[in-house]
Amino acid sequence: MGMTDHQVAERYSSVVSGILNELPIASRVAWLGQKHPSMAQDKFLYDSIMSGVNNDLNHTFYDLNNKEFEGSVKWDVHSGWNIDGYDLVLGLRVLYLCDSRKKLISNLKKICSKNDSVIFDFMTGNPMQMENKEVFVKKNNSQTILPFFDELYEGAYEVDPNHDDQVITLQHLNKSGIEIRNILTFRDSIKKRYYTLCEVKGGS
Ligand SMILES: C[S@@+](CC[C@H](N)C(=O)[O-])C[C@H]1O[C@@H](n2cnc3c(N)ncnc32)[C@H](O)[C@@H]1O
Repeated sequence: MGMTDHQVAERYSSVVSGILNELPIASRVAWLGQKHPSMAQDKFLYDSIMSGVNNDLNHTFYDLNNKEFEGSVKWDVHSGWNIDGYDLVLGLRVLYLCDSRKKLISNLKKICSKNDSVIFDFMTGNPMQMENKEVFVKKNNSQTILPFFDELYEGAYEVDPNHDDQVITLQHLNKSGIEIRNILTFRDSIKKRYYTLCEVKGGS
């Protein structure tokens, strides 16, 4: 378990538990990029969130490494997302796998229009020091998206993408009709990435 996992869990758990506790009993919740808990893998954050939940909810887990059975769906973040009819769609630490802003925006619009509420987190790349500036980059020519919500960060930063469909800003989202309601933004003290947990609204 990495140290950043602990920092993320410390920040996210009680907030997400609170959101789940507020839902009406028997609400349907889709967890994206979350293996079914019976696999007993990659569930540190999930367990930490659920330890604070005392609500009876109906959970479905979407993950590339899931088998198909009731409540467990095999899903690829790179596909067109067909996820609808949920009271809450919750995607934690999964969008970093996406490699196209355009595809992601189109998927976000689609699920916002088909589900009651949608919550995701967006994580920057690692910062590099370049001529006295901190610049967010994806190393080793990684093609995965580079969220850069600098209005929410403390200080001045730049971003240096590897391709022109990589950076995603609040302006990109707003221009496409998506509204972001910031729930919390924090910077981890180890890799120095910024994380933004937010409600995503809009779409057509
Ligand atoms: C960093 S873990 C996050 C797990 C959990 N959501 C959390 O925050 O603790 C990333 C998850 O994405 C899944 N995954 C990897 N590639 C994927 C893909 N192409 N589509 C969907 N899920 C994928 C992995 O199996 C893993 O469960």
